Amino acid sequence: MTIEAIDFGRLYRDHLAMSQRTRKDPSAWDSRAAGMASKALRSRYADEFVARMDLSGAASLLDVGCGPGTIGLAVAGQLQRVVGLDYSSAMLDAMRSKAAQNGLGNVETLHRAWEDDWSDVPQCDIVVASRSTTVEDIATALERLHAKARLRVYLTHLVGGHFTDPAIQAVIGRRMPSVPDYIYLLNILHRMGIHPRLDYIAHENRLADAVDFDDFARRVAWSVGELDAHETECLRSWYQRATPQQRRGTPMRWAFISWEKVPC
Ligand SMILES: C[S@@+](CC[C@H](N)C(=O)[O-])C[C@H]1O[C@@H](n2cnc3c(N)ncnc32)[C@H](O)[C@@H]1O
Repeated sequence: MTIEAIDFGRLYRDHLAMSQRTRKDPSAWDSRAAGMASKALRSRYADEFVARMDLSGAASLLDVGCGPGTIGLAVAGQLQRVVGLDYSSAMLDAMRSKAAQNGLGNVETLHRAWEDDWSDVPQCDIVVASRSTTVEDIATALERLHAKARLRVYLTHLVGGHFTDPAIQAVIGRRMPSVPDYIYLLNILHRMGIHPRLDYIAHENRLADAVDFDDFARRVAWSVGELDAHETECLRSWYQRATPQQRRGTPMRWAFISWEKVPC
């Protein structure tokens, strides 16, 4: 058998199906829009993402799964047109209001899901998908990013397959299966004839920002699902004993994957 025989898109779908990940609907993301927006324009993650981008020759950018505009707004001052695409209307509202606050008149939003019809999604010089690629059909998602870009594509995808530190999962007696990580994407791109650059961005995980135990427990439940009373008590007693360092957990690592469009 050779690697050509492997359908990595299918493997990704099978892996995701086995991960028991509950599909989040737009309202789940709506509820996080205000919290994410308060940090959107000033995070170290955004700085690190933008530092790896090449905007030369670019006038427009499409930000897919844009959230409150974490990447699109950070570079909007250097471009003529920025389009944020997301299926959460609260995220798009947050992006528009942040753009207005910052005097950015070149930002527009598109209420759309990865899975919807994209025939009217504009082609842009740069296409970005930051922390937004845990979709059911990654092969189609990558084809869409590639098709909508004139010059370059930049995306980040989880390394290691766990949104919640396995050490925290152990505290509540859960062992969540991993979700498919970036290695599938590299193989699918290779099959598409694309040989991307690869880098990594590490940053504190979401638990590090928790203001108290209730907030901490809510953040754990976002990734692993509702906690029952016993799990909550296990987590509480661990939280009370844990050092600030242990509460912060291990950093999240994102694979930063980028490629150039070869002119046809
Ligand atoms: C982790 S946030 C990332 C936001 C932003 N790109 C960033 O890096 O801060 C994931 C975003 O993807 C959006 N999203 C999730 N699934 C989606 C889907 N199927 N179609 C469109 N957007 C989706 C969510 O609404 C959310 O805004």
